[in-house]
Formats: sequence, C-alpha cells, structure tokens
Amino acid sequence: MKNIAVFASGSGSNFQAIIDEVKKGELQANLKLLVCDKPNAFCIERATNEDIPYFTFSAKDYAGKEEYENEILKKLKENKIEFIVLAGYMRLIGPILLKEFEGRIVNIHPSLLPAFPGKDAIGQALNANVKKSGVTIHFVDEGMDTGPIIAQQEVDIDSAETRESLQEKIHEIEHQLYPAVLKKLFSK
Ligand code: GAR
Repeated sequence: MKNIAVFASGSGSNFQAIIDEVKKGELQANLKLLVCDKPNAFCIERATNEDIPYFTFSAKDYAGKEEYENEILKKLKENKIEFIVLAGYMRLIGPILLKEFEGRIVNIHPSLLPAFPGKDAIGQALNANVKKSGVTIHFVDEGMDTGPIIAQQEVDIDSAETRESLQEKIHEIEHQLYPAVLKKLFSK
C-alpha cells in the first residue's frame, strides 16, 4: 500500500473525497500527511477530524521556495511518502520536490487542459463563453498545470450557468474521478 501525502490550500473537498474512499477500503493507500500552505484553511480541520497528521506553513516566513520545499521534503521523508496528490494546492511545485518525486506527483484541475490553466479556471471558462469545460488529472512537471494528462471528463456549461453551479458540477465530477484515477495509479 502506497504512503501518500495530500497537498491542499483551501476547503479540501477533494481531500475529503480521498479520505472517504480510503475509509471505505475502495482506495488502497495510507493517508500519512496533509501539507497545507494556508494555516487557516478548512482542509486542516478535515485532517484533524480524521487524525491525519498535517504540516502547515506560510510561504512568507521563508526566504523562498527552496527553503520551504526543503522543509516539506523533510516531513515527506519522515513519513516515508511515496506519492504526492495535489488537491487544490495553489502553488507551483519547485525543483526540490520535482526531483525527488519525479513521476509521482499528480494534480487535479477544474478545466479541460490545456484550456484555462492557472488560477480561477472556472471563471476563465465562464468569461470565455465556452459551452464545455471539465476536469483534468495530470502528472506534475515544472509548468503551470502542464504535464502528461492521465484523465479528463467533460461538463456542459448551460446558458444560465453561474460560477456556483459550475463549481458544484465540477466538484461532483472531481470527487468521483480523483479517487478512481488514484486507485488505478496505486495498483500499478
Ligand atoms: C478544485 O476544484 C481543484 O480542481 C482546483 O481547486 C479546487 C479545490 O477544491 N485546483 C486548481 O485550480 C489547481 N490549479 P477543494 O479545496 O474543495 O478540493
């Protein structure tokens, strides 16, 4: 069974979906650590509720990415982490972690990449007036939401779509798709 760390910055509903599948025995993984760059984020409460250890930090307390990623790397090594799962972690992964976990970091993004990378993919899709968006799961490389695509699922955007309704549709897909893709990856 793989030892995994989830990285998140916000509410952590995807983190929760992963926790739930692990608890049901559907996803075979040891959820060893949450890494969070926002000390007040709700995902930390989710970790606490489930007795999952967490490491939280503020980037502003460090001289740069190298310094905080070295600290994260120390925690990952202490916990014998084999796989990193990004779930709404809103920072680029730098060379320190990429080198150590090459091919073993995955990300979920709320658009059909390569469309609408970066922040607020949902707002970007609505502003662009597209009729379809979706969810992408991909391996992480040094780029912003680039890296080999593992899975994608489309969602229709209705004429009356709001940010809230689209976000809800996307979350619904994400909460199914991410655990399913992880299940396949971890069984290899
Ligand atoms: C998710 O929709 C995820 O796809 C997105 O952040 C949200 C986090 O929600 N990630 C990105 O935009 C990455 N570029 P959650 O905190 O409820 O899981």
